[in-house]
Amino acid sequence: MSSLPMTAVRTAVEAKEDLRAQIDAARLPKHIAIIMDGNGRWARQRFLPRIAGHRMGARTVHEVVETSARLGLQALSLYAFSAENWKRPKTEIDTLMELLREYIKKELEEIHRNNIRIQILGHYELLPAWVQEDIEQAIRVTGKNTGMVLNVALNYSARTELADAFQSILKSNQQNRNLEITEQMIAEHLYTKGLPDPDLLIRTSGEMRVSNFLLWQIAYAEIWVTDTYWPDFTARHLMQAILDFQKRERRYGGLGRGGV
Ligand code: FPP
Repeated sequence: MSSLPMTAVRTAVEAKEDLRAQIDAARLPKHIAIIMDGNGRWARQRFLPRIAGHRMGARTVHEVVETSARLGLQALSLYAFSAENWKRPKTEIDTLMELLREYIKKELEEIHRNNIRIQILGHYELLPAWVQEDIEQAIRVTGKNTGMVLNVALNYSARTELADAFQSILKSNQQNRNLEITEQMIAEHLYTKGLPDPDLLIRTSGEMRVSNFLLWQIAYAEIWVTDTYWPDFTARHLMQAILDFQKRERRYGGLGRGGV
């Protein structure tokens, strides 16, 4: 091997370490939510079938999960399949399910070793039975882990999540005719109950939309959008987003430092 590629590899590793060293561990976002977008466009750019983009996207998931856990995030939420994604061709849906299964089979051991707990956001009981079995195994195996929570949103819709929360509140308060629904009650009936709200929402591929993802929970999230397509997103982009987040001043509707 010539010395040039080795130098390039070293430079990339150094650049990553350099970014990592700049991150203030005391002010990490507790929870990052990611809308993984652009797999199809990544593939089209290369005259490849859309599914090649999803396959590369699954590799990115590996890198992002590993980096997030290593950095010490409390939670990472990934939008893998929305309730609206059923409108896609059956072959694409089937391959996405197959990729999910492959991901679990390949990564479960390492995820468990890294003390990560897998949770699913969304009605995954409507997914094909064969993939549900793998999902349930992943939930069971990692259920007692105490490290980062990895939320995978599958057949997910934030509006359905809110409707489910209201339904669940009504069900558990059937005797109370004067029930007053509070914000705290709603938060406690969401799929993300017990977790801090995302403080950083990342979207790849340059689209400026929130696409029915965690609508209640992202009320005060900082939003970071990159033009990079999801298959090209790396640990470096993730760290760049975190560094940007750390430069911002979060005001929650109040005044900033210096009263302005
Ligand atoms: C959006 O790109 C991406 C998806 C709908 C699927 C995301 C799936 C993966 C990253 C792979 C499998 C997931 C896991 C958790 C292993 P798009 O197809 O909408 O892209 P486009 O807007 O360019 O067409």
